[in-house]
Amino acid sequence: MEFSDLVFARRTVRRFTPEPIRQATLEKILRAGLAAPSPNNSVPWSISVVTNGETIQKMREAVHEKLDLMFPNVSADNKPTLDKVKIFSSIFANAPVVLAIFSKTYRAPIHELLSEAEISSEQISKWRRYPELQATGALVQNMLLAATDEGLGSCWISGALVARKELEEILGAGDMRLETLVALGHQDAQPHPKEPLDLEYFVNYIP
Ligand SMILES: Cc1cc2nc3c(=O)[nH]c(=O)nc-3n(C[C@H](O)[C@H](O)[C@H](O)COP(=O)(O)O)c2cc1C
Repeated sequence: MEFSDLVFARRTVRRFTPEPIRQATLEKILRAGLAAPSPNNSVPWSISVVTNGETIQKMREAVHEKLDLMFPNVSADNKPTLDKVKIFSSIFANAPVVLAIFSKTYRAPIHELLSEAEISSEQISKWRRYPELQATGALVQNMLLAATDEGLGSCWISGALVARKELEEILGAGDMRLETLVALGHQDAQPHPKEPLDLEYFVNYIP
């Protein structure tokens, strides 16, 4: 697909057929993700591929349990909203493949200077707006576009991260931080391409 068509063809897909993804196709998508830019080319990321139905169900339960713990006394009026949040936070459980995207601590030249000042690497990271987290966003977008190009549907899911610690435990994250999930699979219907947004509304040219 032409790139200019591809970016508008990519849409969030939340319903998948049970058909598995071919390994060669999956690897193409993963490679596209790993081609993303990263701070100092530090490639501060890792991807776990989850296809085991039991593990995916465990992850779904962890998210639902966490949301129940967070909102134990939800009013009858707000119950439908909590139910909706649960659905959208665990939509990955509809997909045959779930990708868990982790970030790792990275080092840039500025870190070499820290011993000469009262500045922590956490402070640098905060000032720089968490470059390793930003890099995982670039990685995810590359994978979503590659999936679209392969005729597959995908959904970027941050809602599940309310149960980050629990998901990290299930996935054996070690010292990596789980940043987001991506659901991948064959879509049962072709979504409409996106309408371009209005440049005048979203873009400012600074004189
Ligand atoms: C950072 C990020 C987090 C998202 N988290 C969720 C989520 O937790 N659950 C979900 O169903 N969709 C999630 N989405 C998908 C958005 O709802 C979707 O991108 C948006 O509605 C625009 O639709 P489109 O992707 O078809 O353009 C997320 C998207 C982004 C970029």
